[in-house]
Amino acid sequence: MRVGVIGLGVMGAGMAGNLARAGLLDAVWNRTAARGEAVAQSLDVALANGPQDLAHRCDVVLTCVSADADLREVVDALMPGLQSGQVVVDTSTVGVATVEGLAAGLAERNVQFIDAPVTGGAEGARDGTLQVMAGGDPATLEAVMPALEAIGAAVTHFGPVGYGQRAKAVNQVLAAGMVQAISEALAFADASGLEPDRLLPVLQGGAVGSRLLERRGERILAGDFAPGFRMALHHKDLHLCRELLQAMDMNLPLVEMTIKHYDRLLAEGHGDEDMSALYRLKRALFETGNRRSL
Ligand SMILES: NC(=O)c1ccc[n+]([C@@H]2O[C@H](COP(=O)([O-])OP(=O)(O)OC[C@H]3O[C@@H](n4cnc5c(N)ncnc54)[C@H](OP(=O)(O)O)[C@@H]3O)[C@@H](O)[C@H]2O)c1
Repeated sequence: MRVGVIGLGVMGAGMAGNLARAGLLDAVWNRTAARGEAVAQSLDVALANGPQDLAHRCDVVLTCVSADADLREVVDALMPGLQSGQVVVDTSTVGVATVEGLAAGLAERNVQFIDAPVTGGAEGARDGTLQVMAGGDPATLEAVMPALEAIGAAVTHFGPVGYGQRAKAVNQVLAAGMVQAISEALAFADASGLEPDRLLPVLQGGAVGSRLLERRGERILAGDFAPGFRMALHHKDLHLCRELLQAMDMNLPLVEMTIKHYDRLLAEGHGDEDMSALYRLKRALFETGNRRSL
């Protein structure tokens, strides 16, 4: 199996590394050439001239781009190079309608599509320990399993195309709750004068310990909001959750509240920071004269 990767950001670059170590990576391509060149060189694989060229070289094309319009653009660019029997595996977090539409368009050329959004963060992508949430035809998923097993610790099949994204939406609601709880509690801790070195191990060792707290707790209190997972991406994901909920004639308070908070931080220019920069709003609540309601 020859795999090509398109989109070498925080997640895609890590995935490409693990595919290369598994001996499956043939070529990479990235919109910003410098990023593509750096990854191709460090992994000693070919840098394709564009999506179409990458499609010509590979059996499986794995994409990891930012949002719905970006994925549609990439698949449009791939299309002329794709041939019957190839598989496009998308690991981005995008809408269910988008992946259903793309799968239908690709099927007309007898190209299969698997939606395979992931969770586990930049560390999971780098270490090959992602959880992969897959939707699509079972036989096609089986065929691309070696590639997915190279990037993830586990691959779970949830149903037809779109069901990977439905599972990911549930994950993103949980992520909203956790980032809300952690940033609010740590702002309270900071304002209380508690020493992080003492407090964080206690929190982590008790019932509320979590990977997010472990990875972000110290950095949040130090004011380090380097991504990680960019707030603008989580904001985009929560809009995808809202769409799925609206189709059920529902809304969820956690989703609505977090979108509102992110709207404020994005307007202040913090969209490229880690989602844990939500702490900025929570900390500001404790500052005298700055008691904005949330
Ligand atoms: N970071 C995380 O912890 C995490 C975890 C799980 C899932 N995800 C999801 O994974 C996806 C990628 O996230 P990331 O953190 O890797 O983002 P990122 O670091 O911002 O990278 C985004 C990648 O997409 C490419 N891209 C964006 N628009 C494009 C377009 N129109 N055409 C071609 N390439 C395009 C970018 O190319 P350029 O270099 O040219 O900008 C870059 O390679 C997102 O859907 C995100 O929600 C992220």
